Amino acid sequence: MMITLTVNGERVTRHVEPRRHLIDFLRLDLGLTGSHAGCEHGVCGACTVRVDGEIVRGCLVLAASLDGAEVTTIEGLTDSGEVADLQEAFVARNAAQCGFCTPGMVMAAADILRHHADADRAAIREHLSGNYCRCTGYQAIVDAVAATLSERAIHTPADAGRGDRTQEAGR
Ligand code: FES
Ligand code: FES
Repeated sequence: MMITLTVNGERVTRHVEPRRHLIDFLRLDLGLTGSHAGCEHGVCGACTVRVDGEIVRGCLVLAASLDGAEVTTIEGLTDSGEVADLQEAFVARNAAQCGFCTPGMVMAAADILRHHADADRAAIREHLSGNYCRCTGYQAIVDAVAATLSERAIHTPADAGRGDRTQEAGR
């Protein structure tokens, strides 16, 4: 069937087989290989992308169901600059090692930044609990997200009184 959707701000029309999953559509049909296919069973989170503003697992969504949808991948998120500070925090804290989980992890972390600006470390861990990382032990990832939240709170006047999680982030 033919579908037309928006991917990273660009209108795309393609023929897709009914059983084509979004992650394969992105990687194989559109060449957007930033999102990774790991377990392909909805468990690891490596395939996390944004559809109509919400994060989903690309291995569980059929491309054919996305006619008219708006999809953002790690490529689009990066190009927009929305998470430049988060990505810098990942680098600064060695929160990416082999990097396989990182695109999905950043997509999930971006969701925290957008919707849960008051998340503490426990809440960050909870939000990221569906994204597996075999390298880092998660501490550095949580540090990077907590530090980014804290930095944003400092630079957002309405949130200025919320407190500083930077020190906590170093624990
Ligand atoms: S590849 Fe989709 S959750 Fe693992
Ligand atoms: S950095 Fe290797 S799986 Fe997370």
